[in-house]
Amino acid sequence: MFKLAPSILAADFTRLGEQIALVEKAGADELHIDVMDGIFVPSISFGMPVIQSIRSASGMFFDVHLMITEPVRYLEEFVKAGADGITVHAEACSDLRSTVMKLKELGVRAGVSIKPNTPISVLEDVEALIDRVLVMTVEPGFGGQKLIPECIEKVKELAEHRREIGAGYDIQVDGGIGISNVRRVAEAGAEVFVAGTAVFCGDILQNVKAFKEEIRVAD
Ligand code: DX5
Ligand code: ZN
Repeated sequence: MFKLAPSILAADFTRLGEQIALVEKAGADELHIDVMDGIFVPSISFGMPVIQSIRSASGMFFDVHLMITEPVRYLEEFVKAGADGITVHAEACSDLRSTVMKLKELGVRAGVSIKPNTPISVLEDVEALIDRVLVMTVEPGFGGQKLIPECIEKVKELAEHRREIGAGYDIQVDGGIGISNVRRVAEAGAEVFVAGTAVFCGDILQNVKAFKEEIRVAD
């Protein structure tokens, strides 16, 4: 089943609660929440207080994407704040396996993300344990970038590898995803689509509906 996960990084923060309610009503499947620390990635976004505050206003699945160095230090706090699933970056963890084990222990959906230049082989130690692999389709750090076409090849390679080893994780893509390319990434093997700009710029209700229709046809 294909899923749409709007990224609130592109939302209007003066109307955050309202816009989250709108994507939920329009049928979005998960809410993608980008946390940036200014070290692992050049920019800084927001952290636990924002998640905690929107948690009380939304019943959506909170998909927290941690673009922070050594995320293991904060996993418990993000779960307490309201995360349902957490994705860490393979490049940000000195011990990826124990970071994933910690996520399992906390009982949230465990995801691992790889940047455009990171090979899928870094997943080897954890691929039997995780629930999700997030293939970045731009360099993480900012919304509104253009999708890097080579990353679609990586999605294909990963989907093929997943078949070979019989792993159960889903494949998520993030960065530059829009109506014009979502079908292409779906055909490559991705099932969960993050979209910031393409959802929150313009008519949100209309954007989510158009996305849902496009992925329904591809399903
Ligand atoms: C980028 C973030 C993305 C970002 C996507 O580092 O991980 O989730 O919000 O934004 P768009 O869809 O605008 O590329
Ligand atoms: Zn993200």
